[in-house]
Amino acid sequence: MKRMLALFIFLSSLCLAAPATSTLIANIPGRTTISLNGPWNIIIDPYETGLGSRYYRNAKPKDKSDLVEYNFDKSPTLKVPGDWNTQRDDLLFYEGPVWYRRMFTYHKHANTRTYVYIGAANYKTRVFLNGEKLGEHEGGFTPFNFEATSLLHDGENFLVVEVNNARHVEDVPTVNTDWWNYGGITGDVSLVEVPDAFIQDYFVQLAKGSRDEIAGWVQLNGANSPQQVKLEIPEAKIKQTLTTDSSGRAEFHFPAKLVLWSPENPKLYDVTLTSGADKVTDQIGFRSIETEGTKILLNGKSIILRGIAAHDEAPLRGGRATTAADAQTLLSYAKELHCNFIRMAHYPHNEKEIRLADRMGILLWSEIPVYWDIDWTNPATLASAESQLSEMIARDHNRASVIFWSLSNETPIKPERTAFIAQLATDARALDSTRLITSALNRTTQLGPDLRELNDPLGASLDVLGMNEYVGWYEHKPEYADQLQWKIAYDKPVIISEFGADAPAGRHGDKDERWTEEYQVNVFQHQIAMVQRIPGFAGLSPWVLVDFRSPRRPLPGIQDYFNRKGLISNQGAHKQAFYTLQKFYEGLESQQGVKK
Ligand code: GCU
Repeated sequence: MKRMLALFIFLSSLCLAAPATSTLIANIPGRTTISLNGPWNIIIDPYETGLGSRYYRNAKPKDKSDLVEYNFDKSPTLKVPGDWNTQRDDLLFYEGPVWYRRMFTYHKHANTRTYVYIGAANYKTRVFLNGEKLGEHEGGFTPFNFEATSLLHDGENFLVVEVNNARHVEDVPTVNTDWWNYGGITGDVSLVEVPDAFIQDYFVQLAKGSRDEIAGWVQLNGANSPQQVKLEIPEAKIKQTLTTDSSGRAEFHFPAKLVLWSPENPKLYDVTLTSGADKVTDQIGFRSIETEGTKILLNGKSIILRGIAAHDEAPLRGGRATTAADAQTLLSYAKELHCNFIRMAHYPHNEKEIRLADRMGILLWSEIPVYWDIDWTNPATLASAESQLSEMIARDHNRASVIFWSLSNETPIKPERTAFIAQLATDARALDSTRLITSALNRTTQLGPDLRELNDPLGASLDVLGMNEYVGWYEHKPEYADQLQWKIAYDKPVIISEFGADAPAGRHGDKDERWTEEYQVNVFQHQIAMVQRIPGFAGLSPWVLVDFRSPRRPLPGIQDYFNRKGLISNQGAHKQAFYTLQKFYEGLESQQGVKK
């Protein structure tokens, strides 16, 4: 009875649910910024003393009798951006609050508003400036900004940020994940200077279903009357003058003759928006992405996605990926594999990877961490998922490389879960009608000894079905894949979004010996043959590009707290299965007549 009541309350809350409108400033790389990256003093705070002791005041004893039990000046430092787990051995497993403090000098100027921007911080963050609360944020992988104009001093300032990566049942993700809970300020931090009235956000893409019409909108912040906005794409000889409404928003659509963005030709255009004293330039690619029955159409042409799944972890160094070099390494591995697609699991990856994919011509699946069995009937959990979804979309909705918004991974089939994610699908389509909505499903129905059906009710809310299956690793022998038949209950494209096997690089044996590279190759060989027989097969993203840290993988001498399903080790060693998949993708390329 109690469960039914909880479900009723939750379902009725859905009709009130609406994605939080993001106040995110679009295109930080295209703004006037002052970086606050570098060493920050820190206080590790396992007993959550800091708030009560007001660490955010950065206090000093007033006289020799005054009691102040902390001192940032004398405290150690951590590099920002960067998780704390891999910067200090004693923090590898730490879960709780860490207080960060950055001193900086700032010179105020007239007609300028200044924001504090944080690219990502995992998981709950409180931000204070000169002893006053600026704001707080929940979610470990998406950017946020708070206006600081009135609290900034002309001269010396101190910014204090509390980040707490403790896990809770009601969080997104919940307490159980197969990846490391990297805590800390894991994204760039900067001051962002904008005019009093500025261009906060914009959406400039091809109109849904069109390849010769641009449609979108621009949103001003601080304009108290309708304003003119100029939108220019010089190389396409486009110059549009827009007029915003009383809320500072203008919508537009106009014909455009463009070279379309594709993996083979990742064409980007300079797009400049000007309004009053503000001028922002972005590099934007234009392409269409649709489905037609079980086909995925890129620019009207059917495409098979030659993909790989990846975590946002720095190869070689380890820890959360943060730099342009990390992005280059990860995406170059995917290119070496002859991929045209990366499933960025299981949370939004850092923005440098998305922008690099735009330049390198790699299609992307971007996902929020609604992972496994979260707290489906809790309205706070839905609110957190919705805000992370709206922030992911707000940050990357002008990136041609992103073709999928993924809402979840491997969630159990029950009414409250299907209603929760269906709500997210509605939210995502309201925020961005142009991209395809997907999720990675893994619950199927056994129709016969060797016949299985994917008929998850969530499929009705999706444009493309992701399906994870581990034949040969978590079930049966690899050879069983040869006899297993599949049915799909939807006339929609299917991406096999995970299969794989663990093998430490350099561990060898015969193909039936688990944990060897030979066994991993055997799984890939039988899987590659099987997945192409699945109805609606439109691509794959095997699990996973690089070995990654996980608290669930302790097996000494083999895992040592790493998930070893990588095709590349976390030391950069290419395993034999890397070449198995690479050969398959080279074959697909020549079948599709893809120009290299
Ligand atoms: C899971 C899951 C991944 C996990 C992988 C594995 O089902 O989606 O996050 O790492 O499969 O078990 O290795």
